[in-house]
Formats: sequence, C-alpha cells, structure tokens
Amino acid sequence: DKGNFSHFMAKEIHEQPQVIRQTLENYLNADKSGLQHPPLPFNWQDISRITIVACGTAYYAGLVAKYWFESIARLPVEIDIASEFRYRTPPLIKGDLAIFISQSGETADTLAAQAYAKTQEQHCLAVVNVPESSLARAVDCVFMTHAGTEIGVASTKAFTTQLSVLAVLAIAAAQARQTISQNDYQHHCMALAQIPALMDEVLLCEHKCREIAYQLSKARDILYLGRGTSYAIAMEGALKLKEISYIHAEGYAAGELKHGPIALIDDTVPVIAIAPSDALFEKTASNIQEVAARKGRVILISDAEGHEKFPHPDFVRLTLPATSPLLSPILYALPVQMLAYHTAVIKGTDVDQPRNLAKSVTVE
Ligand code: M6R
Repeated sequence: DKGNFSHFMAKEIHEQPQVIRQTLENYLNADKSGLQHPPLPFNWQDISRITIVACGTAYYAGLVAKYWFESIARLPVEIDIASEFRYRTPPLIKGDLAIFISQSGETADTLAAQAYAKTQEQHCLAVVNVPESSLARAVDCVFMTHAGTEIGVASTKAFTTQLSVLAVLAIAAAQARQTISQNDYQHHCMALAQIPALMDEVLLCEHKCREIAYQLSKARDILYLGRGTSYAIAMEGALKLKEISYIHAEGYAAGELKHGPIALIDDTVPVIAIAPSDALFEKTASNIQEVAARKGRVILISDAEGHEKFPHPDFVRLTLPATSPLLSPILYALPVQMLAYHTAVIKGTDVDQPRNLAKSVTVE
C-alpha cells in the first residue's frame, strides 16, 4: 500500500525518520548515551583488519563505514564489490572480521563472497534487512536493519538504516579499542539519536528538490562530487539517478576532478556538490570553484555555515540542518534520493520498477 504517495519510493523516502528511530531503538540504550547490541563472537581488540563486501547501494554504505572505522576506531578496512571480491580470492588473516551488507540477504555475489570469507576463517557479520534470508542464516552474527519491507527497486530506507547500524558498529569498535574518549563516545551516541528528528527537517526541502529536478531532467550528463564520506554519497546519488531517471551520472571524489572529468564541464552539465561544512569543506569548495570557473551549473548541498562561507551568485542551493560531521552522510543521503526521485517522475519513467532491473539480484 502506497498510502498517500504516488510511488513506493516516495513512501520509503518519507519513512526514513521512523525506520531509523525503530532501528536505533535496538542499538541505543534508554538515555541514548550508550550502545547496546547483540553479543559479538570476537573482541574488537583482536581484529587487525575489516573486510567489507557488498553490491550497489549496500557497497556505498560500506564505503561510508570504511571512513568511520578508520577514523574513529583506527581499524584498517578493505572494501570490495562482491562480484570482484569472490573471484579475486584475496588472502585474509585468520580471525579477522568480514562484514557483508545486504538489504535482501539474497544477492548471489554477496552470498558467494561470504562463503569464501568463511574458508579464510573470518568472523562473518551481516548487516541485513531480512532476518530469515540466506545471508542472515550463513553468518556468525547478524545486525538487523529494521527498515521494514522495501518495495521500490531503488534502495532508500535500506541504505540509511544500513548507515545507522554501521555507525553503531564503528562507535562500538572505537569504544572497545579505546580510540575515542568516553565523552566522544557519548557525543556520537547522542548525535546518532538526533538523526531521525534532523531527517524530518531535511524532508522539508523536498519542494526545492523538485524545482532542481526540472533542471536535472533536461541534462544529458550529471556529475556528483564529494570528499570523505560525502564521496560515497556522491556515488550513491549518481547510482540512484541513473537507475530510475536513465540520465547518465557519475560520482567522483572532488579531488579527482582535475585528473580528468573536469574536461566534461560546460554550461550544460549540472554538478551536484555534497559539501557539509566539515574539515574538508574548504578543499571541496576549491574544486567547486573550478567547476564554476568553467561555467558548470553548480548545485551546492550544504548547511547554513557552508553556504555562508561560499557566496556565489549563480549557485543553486539546498540547505540542510547542521549535524555532527561524522554522521552527515546519513542526512545527505536524503536530498540525493529526492533529486533522483523527482527527476524520474518529471521524465515519466517507471520509478518503482525501472527497466532492466530486479529488486534482488539472485543470479551472478
Ligand atoms: O539486496 P542487496 O542490498 O544485496 O542489493 C544490492 C544491490 O543490488 C542494490 O543495492 C541495488 O544497487 C539498488 N537497486 C540500488 O538502488
């Protein structure tokens, strides 16, 4: 049932505050200043490296998590796409941790990657949305995303619940490894608890997203740029747009722009910059400046502070509430979903059932 929405995807976008709240209820303690989670079959101190494997949107959730584990838990992370990982047969150190992320828990390549990791004697942990799925049954430890059934082929609420659960894991690892202070630990937990309310605020910019989507719907190519965890959101934004609007889009690390893709920029190319005012803001701003100098049509997604730091008369702007720099990707996922959704609606494509795609890819 789509309720009052025209598509399941729209309904699922709007369900995000509620499903994140629901998910976090399972992982935050009553006063929201600490974590609770299923017992782990390993000690974080004994892990020397994490391997994360997934496909599509779940892979981009893993890419965000790589930055989180490395920055706060000081744990090295390898991340790979399941279809590459399984045939690459990488050597893994016995007793390390492998994390598999999947909404359906039935993606063939992800399942095969997990079977391989088992032969390498990894502790296998799944972040999964379907409790009785093949992946959930195959691993040693399951961290559920409580997103409810996701019907739209384009993943939305599964992605942000995956991010929320992965944030819990990274914060838990950091606390256990004592790479953050008790103060920072509480601060991260409380910041996580605030995400659903901030998401409600972000959803209010839907009208503006629709306006921007008119511009996007006329483009042939669109670039998404970001640094750090915003790079992963840029990749996810481009995937979402390609998948449902059939417009060619690329996500790029902002710093890579001058190593090639800047040659594409002219006044017909919208460039969507994911740039919360974090430690990397100035760096991303200088890349956006290069785009503007070549007449690219910049759409800047930032918070009030970021927009203030970067006054340019020609930018189209989306303003998000300020959030903890660590958790910004969970919020910045929403505008890229809404931009893709409205662009597809304007183009008249089949939003919930895009051509050539299946909800879960159970063949390789
Ligand atoms: O069920 P899974 O999370 O394993 O699916 C992985 C991908 O097939 C999936 O995320 C796909 O990329 C989405 N359609 C993207 O919106």
